[in-house]
Amino acid sequence: MKILVTGVAGYIGSHAALELLNAGHEVHGFDNLSNSSEEAVRRVRELTGKPLRFEKLDLLDAPGLGRLLKEGFDAVMHFAGLKAVGESVEKPELYKRNNVDGSANLLAAMEAAACRRLVFSSSCTVYGEVKKNPVDENHPRGAVNPYGQTKLDVENLCLDLARRRPGWRIALLRYFNPVGAHESGRIGEDPRGVPNNLMPFVMQTAVGRRDKVRVFGNDYPTPDGTGVRDYIHVVDLALGHLAALDRLDAFAGAQAVNLGTGRGASVLEVIAAAARASGRPIPYEILPRRPGDSAAIWAEPTLAREKLGWRAERGLDRMCADHWRWQKNNPDGYGV
Ligand code: NAD
Ligand code: WQD
Repeated sequence: MKILVTGVAGYIGSHAALELLNAGHEVHGFDNLSNSSEEAVRRVRELTGKPLRFEKLDLLDAPGLGRLLKEGFDAVMHFAGLKAVGESVEKPELYKRNNVDGSANLLAAMEAAACRRLVFSSSCTVYGEVKKNPVDENHPRGAVNPYGQTKLDVENLCLDLARRRPGWRIALLRYFNPVGAHESGRIGEDPRGVPNNLMPFVMQTAVGRRDKVRVFGNDYPTPDGTGVRDYIHVVDLALGHLAALDRLDAFAGAQAVNLGTGRGASVLEVIAAAARASGRPIPYEILPRRPGDSAAIWAEPTLAREKLGWRAERGLDRMCADHWRWQKNNPDGYGV
C-alpha cells in the first residue's frame, strides 16, 4: 500500500516507517522537524535500503496538506504532534493549535482527497485518573493536562467524522509507555534538552550524561513504593501499527485499541533492568512525587490480540538492551 506517515522523523514515526518499508509498503513522510532530525529519515533509508520520500511540511499548512493528499494514498499514519506534558501546561494554546487544529487540517485534506483510512497515535493519557488496573478501552476518558486534552479532542474529531461519514476507517491506538529502539542501534529516541520521561533519563545516566536518576516518589501504594507503568518496546508498537493497517477494514468507523504489554514495571525495576543491560551502575535518589503522576497504570491488551491479531513480544530486558545499544552508540542522539 501507499502510506503517508506524519511525524516520520520522530521517535515512533521513524520506527513505524522502517517496519512499513520492510513489509513492502511504499512510504511517503513529512515532518516539520520541530522535535526531530532528518538524520532519522536518512538512517531508515540506510537500514532498509529502500526509498523513503521526505518532505518538510507543517500540519498547520492546510494548502500544503491538501496538495500532498491529492497525490493519492491508501492510508495515513498520523504521529505528528507535540507531546511534552509540562510544556503543554505552560503553553496550552500552542498544544491545541498544533495537535488539534493540525489534526483537523489533516482530516479535512484526507476527506477532500477521499483517503479515509487512518491510524492515529492516541495515548493512555486519555484514561485520566485511573480507577482500576488493568485499563481496558471502556474505561472512562478524561484529561489531566492540556496535552491529554488534545488527544481526547482528536479522538473526538475522529469519532465524530466516522459517525457522519460512513466510509471512514480509523484506528485510535492508545499507546502506553513506548521505550527501546531498533535493534541496529541506528535509530532511537532523541529527546531535546533534559528528558521528561524515565527511560531516556535512566539511559543518559548510564552513559554518563546525567549524575543520577531522580525517582519521583517511593511512597505510592505499589510493591516497592515507586510508580508502575506499562512499558512497551517501540518495535512492538510499530508492528502494532502494521497490524492495525492490515485490519482497518474490520473497524466499524473509529475505534480505540490499547497497545501495551499488560504488565507493569516500577521505576526501581526499570533502573535495575537498565543497569543489567548496560553493565553500569545507575545511581538514583528518591525525590518527592511529581505533581500529576498516578501510582500505577497498565493495559488490558486483549482487544489488540482479538482485533489486530497482535501482541507485544519484547520484555523489559530486551527494551533496555535495545535502548542501551542506541544510547551507547549515539551518546548525543542524532547530534544535529
Ligand atoms: P516525537 O516528538 O519524537 O515525534 C513527533 C514528530 O512530530 C516530531 O518529529 C515532530 O517534529 C513532529 N511534529 C510536531 N508537530 C508537527 C507539526 N505541526 N507538523 C509536522 N510535524 C510535526 O514523538 P513520538 O514519541 O514519536 O510520538 C509520536 C506520537 O505518538 C505523538 O502524537 C505522541 O503524542 C504520541 N504518543 C507518544 C507517546 C510517548 O510516550 N512517546 C505515548 C503515547 C502517544
Ligand atoms: C514513568 C514513571 C514517573 C521520570 C508520560 C505521559 C503520557 C505518555 C507517556 C504520551 C512515573 C517516574 C519519570 C524521572 C521518575 N505520553 N519518573 N523519574 O508519566 O507515565 O507518561 O509519557 O502520550 O501521556 O504523561 O511517563 O516516563 O515520564 O514516567 O521517577 O526522571 O517514571 O513518576 O512513575 P508517564 P514517564
